[in-house]
Formats: sequence, structure tokens, C-alpha cells
Amino acid sequence: MTRARRLARFAPLVLLAILTAAPTAAAQPAKPAAAPPGTSATPAARPARPAAEGCVTCHLEIGDERLAQPAKLFDGDIHKAKGFGCVACHGGDGKSTDLEAMDPAKGYIGKPGRQQVAQVCGRCHSDARFMKQYNPALRVDQVAEYATSVHGRRLRELADPKVATCGSCHPAHSIKPPSDPASSVHPLRVARTCGACHADATTMAGYKIPTDQLAKYTESVHWKTMSAKGDLSAPTCNDCHGNHGAAPPGISWVGNVCGQCHTVMADLFAKSVHARAFRDLGVPGCAACHENHDVQPASTEMLGLGGRAICSTCHEAKSKGGRAALEMRGIIDGLRKERDHASEILERAEQAGMEVSQARFDLNGANDALVKARAAVHAFKVDAVKKEADAGLGIAQKAYERGVRALEELRFRRTGLVVSLVIIVVLIAGLVLKLRQLERRTGSPVKG
Ligand code: HEC
Ligand code: HEC
Ligand code: HEC
Ligand code: HEC
Ligand code: HEC
Ligand code: HEC
Ligand code: HEC
Ligand code: HEC
Ligand code: HEC
Repeated sequence: MTRARRLARFAPLVLLAILTAAPTAAAQPAKPAAAPPGTSATPAARPARPAAEGCVTCHLEIGDERLAQPAKLFDGDIHKAKGFGCVACHGGDGKSTDLEAMDPAKGYIGKPGRQQVAQVCGRCHSDARFMKQYNPALRVDQVAEYATSVHGRRLRELADPKVATCGSCHPAHSIKPPSDPASSVHPLRVARTCGACHADATTMAGYKIPTDQLAKYTESVHWKTMSAKGDLSAPTCNDCHGNHGAAPPGISWVGNVCGQCHTVMADLFAKSVHARAFRDLGVPGCAACHENHDVQPASTEMLGLGGRAICSTCHEAKSKGGRAALEMRGIIDGLRKERDHASEILERAEQAGMEVSQARFDLNGANDALVKARAAVHAFKVDAVKKEADAGLGIAQKAYERGVRALEELRFRRTGLVVSLVIIVVLIAGLVLKLRQLERRTGSPVKG
């Protein structure tokens, strides 16, 4: 999107931020003393080396923790690493070593207020040309996106003092890239960062939304996949809600976000009767059956009308939907049973020393079919489930038959073994008898 279009679309906040950021400063009139934040420090080019600033020296010596803390923390900040100092955000005169350093005439803005923060950050982060010098891959839409979020809108329209600003999620003096495990926005830490407000009943008192998102999320299959298995492809808060906006670009409604990862289910669901019916009823898509924060591993028990089934919440047993639910359940359970039978018999054959590895390999096809049949549930058509399951049933039956044959072969071989043993024993016995007979006939040869 071009900057102009973004400007047209988004709020005055963005306009202000981008205008103050514009490095076309030459075309602007001389800046007034009470310039917008940091105008005098408008970055034109990257600093050659970290600025040795009087700000830091004095602030470390003041002996007031509130004033010293930022200077201490700043050592671990990405901006320090990139060569910026305090002036980059606060303005002022970095070369001065006395209080003159904080002269508003030198662009000093003091501690940015909540309404100001996005402008302070956006001065650089909304300026593609400037940011490109550092990292061409970095997005430059954070301020614009933030302005569209519930946080940004409430800040602008209601001056809500509790919503998140840039500094709430990126603590001002220890900002780190999301890839840094110590960053407040590293995937494993985001939930806690959001939870600092959303799970805190005191902060959220007075709002009409629950405070259980963090608690529920940390019980979900998504968090467990991420935290226990270290699989960072599972979603955390910002994957579903957007890093900075209400939802990621292209996703009009956060409820649709599941399909970004679970594409097969989403495609089937989108074409199903439920897609329209749910929209008309205002039922939240996938989350109606899976929850949004407390997503649990899916199981066939969800399907049908009994115990843990979800279909029964809307369908009666006798309705078309109810009957379909039961049928799908029957088909999937049937395939699973056939697969288990086949697997069992092959295992027995294998333990008995029969060679059935090819059949065991082939049985993977039935596993695949089971996965596909379970996914096909999302078409909410019996035929769709049946089609996938039938393919698997064929494979499972063949594998089962191979198991039966292997066991028969084993039985045959065992019988053969017994028969040959009997023959050998009989032969040996006959031989012994014959020897005895010969001995008796020639008398006792060893006497004397
Ligand atoms: C000679 C010591 C000294 C120097 C140099 C100095 N400061 Fe300060 N700074 C102070 C003192 C003292 C205060 C507290 C004064 C107050 O609260 O008004 C302060 C307060 C601040 C505050 C907090 C303002 C608030 O409203 O809470 C910020 C931000 C700040 N300084 C930034 C800077 C920056 C940026 C520089 C360098 C351009 C700088 N300081 C240089 C001594 C200094
Ligand atoms: C990336 C931007 C940025 C840089 C760089 C930065 N600050 Fe700040 N600073 C902020 C913001 C934003 C706040 C407002 C409070 C907040 O959001 O935490 C703030 C607040 C402060 C405060 C007030 C703290 C308080 O608790 O009241 C002081 C003092 C301060 N900064 C000093 C400094 C000093 C000294 C440096 C250099 C070592 C510095 N800042 C560098 C953005 C920055
Ligand atoms: C003076 C310009 C400037 C200002 C002001 C500024 N930043 Fe930055 N910021 C940068 C640059 C340059 C980088 C380094 C980008 C890179 O190399 O990846 C950066 C990096 C970051 C990163 C890490 C990005 C990444 O993935 O590497 C975050 C997060 C960030 N800034 C947040 C903020 C916030 C929040 C504020 C306001 C409190 C702010 N910045 C103010 C210039 C600025
Ligand atoms: C509600 C929390 C939240 C707020 C408010 C917020 N951010 Fe972020 N920000 C995040 C998260 C989470 C990420 C990590 C995204 C990821 O994993 O790539 C992020 C990433 C970033 C990055 C790295 C590049 C990118 O876009 O992924 C920058 C730069 C940044 N934020 C700047 C800002 C600025 C500037 C503001 C204020 C306009 C802001 N953020 C407000 C949560 C927030
Ligand atoms: C500084 C506190 C704070 C932080 C941190 C914070 N939020 Fe919020 N958030 C709020 C407040 C306050 C509201 C307004 C509540 C309302 O909408 O009624 C809000 C609103 C929301 C809403 C809209 C709720 C609705 O339906 O009205 C969503 C979604 C949201 N936040 C997600 C997040 C996510 C995701 C994060 C972390 C990346 C986060 N928030 C971090 C304070 C915070
Ligand atoms: C798997 C996707 C997903 C994840 C992960 C996720 N959310 Fe949500 N969240 C949703 C959906 C879907 C809704 C319902 C939105 C709607 O009705 O428009 C929602 C609703 C919300 C709301 C509105 C109030 C409510 O509870 O309905 C808030 C606030 C919120 N989420 C915060 C968070 C926070 C904080 C986290 C991380 C701890 C998080 N979410 C993680 C998908 C997710
Ligand atoms: C950023 C990608 C992503 C998003 C977005 C996402 N998921 Fe997931 N989901 C995963 C990953 C990764 C797993 C764990 C691996 C697996 O089993 O597929 C998972 C697991 C699941 C499972 C358990 C699957 C099982 O094996 O039983 C369900 C159900 C689920 N997600 C539903 C949802 C719903 C509903 C949403 C939206 C509210 C959603 N997911 C959003 C990536 C995502
Ligand atoms: C009407 C209820 C319903 C809706 C709506 C629904 N699902 Fe499901 N989903 C199920 C049932 C039932 C199962 C379990 C099927 C089984 O295990 O036999 C399931 C299973 C899953 C699984 C696990 C599949 C596996 O192989 O382990 C995922 C992932 C999933 N659904 C994602 C989604 C997504 C994404 C959406 C939205 C696009 C969605 N579901 C909508 C009922 C639903
Ligand atoms: C939130 C309520 C709700 C849930 C839960 C739900 N359905 Fe439905 N279902 C509907 C609505 C509404 C319709 C469309 C109205 C209708 O024709 O009955 C529908 C239609 C259907 C149809 C088509 C019926 C027809 O008349 O052609 C089938 C099949 C179906 N659902 C199966 C299921 C299955 C299987 C489940 C459980 C995995 C399920 N539904 C869960 C609300 C729901």
C-alpha cells in the first residue's frame, strides 16, 4: 500500500506521525520551538557510532532510581545497539553535560505522554526510506496498524488511559527484536505481555470483557505445542489478533484466522452449510466447536450426539444434521476399528517372526485416510467422510488379510514342523529298535 493511501485510510494520529517523520525536512518551514516530538532529531542518515551522551552520564549519577533506571536498562536495547542514544526519542542536546541538555528549545520533549508515544516511535518506524538503511525486511506499518486496533482507537477517541501503547508491549528502554528470547514480544513471552493487562482483574475492571484469555490459552493445545514441544509455528495472541492491528491484513474477522494455518479444514468449512448458517446466526466459525483460547486436541468424541459431542448442542437426533452426525461418527469409528484390527494382527505375525513389513507399511495408507476422513468432517456431508474412509477401509482390509495369511502360514509351518518332528522321532525310534535287534541277534559281544 502506498503511503498516500494509508494516510487517506487511517487516522489523524498516523498523519501527524508520518508528517513529523518526513525526511523531506528541507521543504518544510523552519521548525518552531514547540515542535512536535523529536522533530529536531529527525533522522536523516544512520549515526556512524553510538552517541556518547551527557544524558546517560548525568542520569546514572542522579541517585534517583526513576531517572537512572532508563540509562541502565538502555545497554540491552536494540536502539543502543544500532547507534542511537536518548536523544533519538526524547530530543535535547546530547553533547551538553548540564541541565541545558533538556532545553525544549533544543527539541527536548521530556517523558512522552501516552498519546505521544506512537508519534515518537513512528518518526522512524513509519519511514520506509529511513528504516531501509537498517533492515529492508522490517515492516513499517506498526503505527498505521496500531491506529486501527481497539487499543489505538480507544486511545485516540476516548483517551482511554489503560489501553496498550507501543511502550506497553515494548518496554521503552529495553526494546528487543521479537526473535530475541528475552524480548517481551518473543513468541513464548507474548502471552504474558498481553496478560499483564488482560489477565489482571484490577486493570480490566470497568471493561465488559472477560479476563480469562491467558488462563484459557495456557491450557490450549496451541500453547502446549509451543511451550512443551518448542514448535513456534503454533499461534500465540498476536498470531490471531495481529501484531499491531485488530487482525492481520486480509483477515476481516479474527474468527477467520484459524484457516491461515488449518487450510484444509477452513476450505471445507467455507463451502459447508454451516459457513452460511453460522454467519447468519452470528456463531463464531471454528470457535463454535473448538473454542478460541482454550482449543483442545480434537477427537471423534466431539462428533455425534452423546457425552462430549458438540453437534447435539444444535441438532436433535432425528433431524437431518443429527442423523448425519451419527453416521459420520460410525464411519470414522469403523475405519479406526478396522485399522486397529489390521495393526494388531500384523503385530502378532511380526512377533512370531513372520515377514509382514510391507503390509505394515501399506497400512500407513489407512492412517492417512483416517486423518483425511476426520478433516472431511468439516464438509458436514456424510458422503465426503465416507469417500475418504472407504479408501482407508480397503487398505485396512487388505492389510488384515495379509495378517491372516501370515498367521495361517505360520500355523502351516508349525504343523509341518510337528509332522517332520514326528517323522524324525519315528525314524530314530525305528533305528534304535533295529540296532537293538541286531545286537540281540549277534549276542553280547563284549563279555569276556
Ligand atoms: C546534568 C544532569 C542531566 C543531564 C545532562 C540530563 N538530564 Fe534528564 N534529568 C535530570 C534531572 C535532575 C531530571 C529530573 C528533573 C525533573 O523531574 O524535572 C531529569 C529528567 C529527565 C526525564 C524525565 C522527565 C519527566 O517528565 O519525568 C527525561 C525523559 C530526561 N531527563 C531525559 C534526558 C535526556 C534525553 C538528556 C540528554 C539530552 C538528559 N535528560 C540530560 C538530569 C539530567
Ligand atoms: C526508543 C525510544 C526511547 C529511547 C531511545 C529512550 N527513551 Fe526514555 N522513554 C521513552 C518513552 C516512550 C518513555 C515513556 C514511559 C514509558 O513508556 O515507559 C520514556 C521515559 C523516560 C523517563 C521517565 C521514566 C519514568 O519512569 O518516569 C526517563 C527518565 C527517560 N525516559 C530517560 C531516558 C534516557 C536517560 C535515555 C537514554 C539512556 C532514554 N530515556 C532513551 C522512550 C525512549
Ligand atoms: C530514531 C529512530 C527510531 C526511533 C525513534 C525508534 N526506533 Fe525502533 N528501531 C529503529 C531502528 C533503526 C531499528 C533497527 C532495525 C533493525 O536493524 O532490525 C529499530 C528496532 C526496533 C525494534 C526491533 C525490530 C526488529 O525486529 O529488529 C523494535 C521492536 C522497535 N524498534 C520498537 C520501537 C519502539 C516501540 C519505539 C518507540 C518507543 C521505537 N522503536 C523508536 C529506529 C527507531
Ligand atoms: C499490544 C501489544 C503491542 C503494541 C501496543 C505494539 N506492539 Fe509492536 N509488536 C508486538 C508484537 C507481539 C510483535 C512481534 C511480532 C512478531 O512476532 O513478529 C511486535 C513487533 C514490533 C516490531 C518488529 C517488526 C514487526 O512489525 O514485527 C516493531 C518495529 C514494533 N513492534 C513497533 C511498534 C510500535 C512503533 C508500536 C506503537 C505504534 C507498537 N509496536 C505497538 C506487540 C505490540
Ligand atoms: C497496557 C494494558 C494492555 C496490554 C499490554 C494489552 N492490552 Fe489489549 N486491551 C487493553 C484494554 C484496556 C482494552 C480495552 C477493553 C475493551 O475493549 O473494552 C483492550 C482491548 C483489547 C482487545 C479488544 C477486546 C474487545 O473485544 O473489545 C483485544 C483483542 C486485545 N486488547 C488484545 C490484546 C493483545 C493480543 C495484547 C498483546 C499482544 C494486548 N491486548 C495487550 C489493555 C491492554
Ligand atoms: C487461536 C487464535 C487465538 C489466540 C491464540 C488468542 N486469541 Fe483472543 N480471540 C480469538 C478469537 C477468535 C476471539 C473472538 C473474537 C470475536 O468474537 O470477534 C478472541 C477474543 C479475544 C478478546 C475479546 C474478549 C473475549 O475474551 O472474547 C480478547 C481481549 C483476546 N481475545 C485476547 C487474547 C489474548 C490476551 C491472547 C493471548 C493470551 C489471545 N487472545 C490469544 C482468537 C485467539
Ligand atoms: C499460526 C498457526 C495457527 C493458527 C492461527 C491456529 N492454529 Fe490450531 N494448531 C496449530 C498448530 C501448529 C497445532 C499443533 C499441531 C497440530 O496438531 O496440527 C494446532 C492444533 C490445533 C488443534 C488440535 C489438532 C489435533 O491434533 O487434535 C485444533 C482443534 C486447532 N488447532 C484449532 C484451531 C482453531 C479453532 C484456531 C482458530 C481459533 C486455530 N487452531 C488457529 C497452528 C495454528
Ligand atoms: C460444527 C463443529 C465444527 C466446526 C465449526 C469446526 N470443526 Fe474442526 N472438528 C470438529 C470435529 C467434530 C472434529 C473431530 C473429528 C474427529 O476427530 O473425528 C474436528 C477436528 C478438527 C481438527 C483436528 C483434525 C485432526 O486431524 O486432528 C482441526 C485442526 C480442526 N478441527 C480445525 C478446525 C478449523 C480451523 C475450523 C474452522 C475453519 C473448524 N475446525 C471448524 C468439528 C468442528
Ligand atoms: C451452533 C449450532 C450448530 C452446531 C454446533 C452444529 N450445527 Fe449442523 N447445522 C446448524 C445449522 C443452523 C444448520 C443449517 C440449518 C439446517 O438446515 O438445519 C446446520 C446444518 C447441518 C447439516 C445439513 C443438514 C441439512 O438439512 O442438510 C449437517 C449434515 C450438519 N449440520 C451436521 C452437523 C454436525 C455433524 C455437527 C457436529 C460436528 C454440527 N452440525 C454442529 C447448526 C449447528
